[in-house]
Amino acid sequence: MKTAPPPLKVVRGHGAILKLEDGTEIIDCISSWWVNIHGHSNPEIAKAIYEQAIHLEHVMFAGFTHDPAEVLAARLLPHLPISLRKIFFSDNGSTAVEVALKMAYQYWYNKGHADRDRFIGFDGGYHGDTVGAMSIAGSSPFWQRYKRMMPEFDAVSYPLKSEDVAANEERENETLKQMKKLVISKKKKYAGVCIEPLVQGAGGMRMCSEQFLVKLAKFCRDNDLLLIFDEVMTGFGRTGDWFAAKKVNVEPDIMCLSKGITGGFVPLAVTACSDRIYESFLSDDPQDMFAHGHSYTANPIACAAAVKSLELLEADTRPFTEMEAKHRSYANEFFTDIKTIKNLRFCGTIVAFEVESSGGNHYYNELGLTLRQKFLEEGLLIRPLGNTVYLMPPYCITESLSFIYYKIAKVISSL
Ligand SMILES: Cc1ncc(COP(=O)(O)O)c(C=O)c1O
Repeated sequence: MKTAPPPLKVVRGHGAILKLEDGTEIIDCISSWWVNIHGHSNPEIAKAIYEQAIHLEHVMFAGFTHDPAEVLAARLLPHLPISLRKIFFSDNGSTAVEVALKMAYQYWYNKGHADRDRFIGFDGGYHGDTVGAMSIAGSSPFWQRYKRMMPEFDAVSYPLKSEDVAANEERENETLKQMKKLVISKKKKYAGVCIEPLVQGAGGMRMCSEQFLVKLAKFCRDNDLLLIFDEVMTGFGRTGDWFAAKKVNVEPDIMCLSKGITGGFVPLAVTACSDRIYESFLSDDPQDMFAHGHSYTANPIACAAAVKSLELLEADTRPFTEMEAKHRSYANEFFTDIKTIKNLRFCGTIVAFEVESSGGNHYYNELGLTLRQKFLEEGLLIRPLGNTVYLMPPYCITESLSFIYYKIAKVISSL
């Protein structure tokens, strides 16, 4: 708070536009940390929330159930990989990950392997700010201060994808080698592996190949490890398909969802798992139950918003399946001549690149803060991660996408 600029007060949101107190309008190019997939204040979701609120606003989800939760589970499952058959509700992305870790650990515990208490994550990962979620995310500037209180999980390198297919293979094999070494050295101690599939978000929009996820799934199968896909960011169309797992045709054992699930209206999260995991909790011993409950678990208003958001996506998937072609075309039109734009990369609705900087590429890079301010002055909400600039617009964005590229090119050329 000592060094941060004062926050901007937002008074209204409509489509991709946010209106500030002083009347200024800015385009939300990152869907407010990737949640508002349909843009702001979508009237259909607002109506669904109102109707649910006057009907049943909340009831505890222990010993009770309700239509919005049941309908949401039934509507969601057909979009998930076929192995995922059961839904556990919670209320934010970090918690969806905590639930996944506890579930994976207890799966092994209930099967008589209490010593499988470790996880493998990926360097540069981000799974949330709770203690378990921080612990599986490898090294990051976000939690240096908390290291001593975190459980010591292991991390391997995230094999970044480039144009060079042979180099990709080499990096992927190196990652698998690192994993093999861990599994051998601490034999039978791992419960599972947790990854942000296709794109690491907050770590800098770092992308891996589809092929790597296929290899990773095989590695997990061969080494009896549970595979957790954290699709909190990549879910609901972000990678150009409903989920990254569907795009690459991989069946994880557990999947975490949140962010876009309610279209950005209210917090909700889901951890989906396979029947194999669910059945390991069926027991006469109460200690074997999955002990995880939150006051707002499966809140009916949140579930009603999520059902409506799903309906909107189902009605027309073109906004997310066709966005990558638009990104590529505008990048080609506006960025080709800007020599400081490096490592331009695309995945579905996401585009990212680095702006060449003498200050190195780290999160607290000065250039990132300068860019953030200059973009705002041009009417764009873009929040670079260090000197990595990315766009992840709401799906309702259409004509203004070319305007955004024009403005970005203007800012970067002026540096
Ligand atoms: C991949 C991923 N997992 C988990 C989280 C945490 O979600 P939340 O901020 O809702 O706790 C995030 C947030 O950015 C994320 O990107």
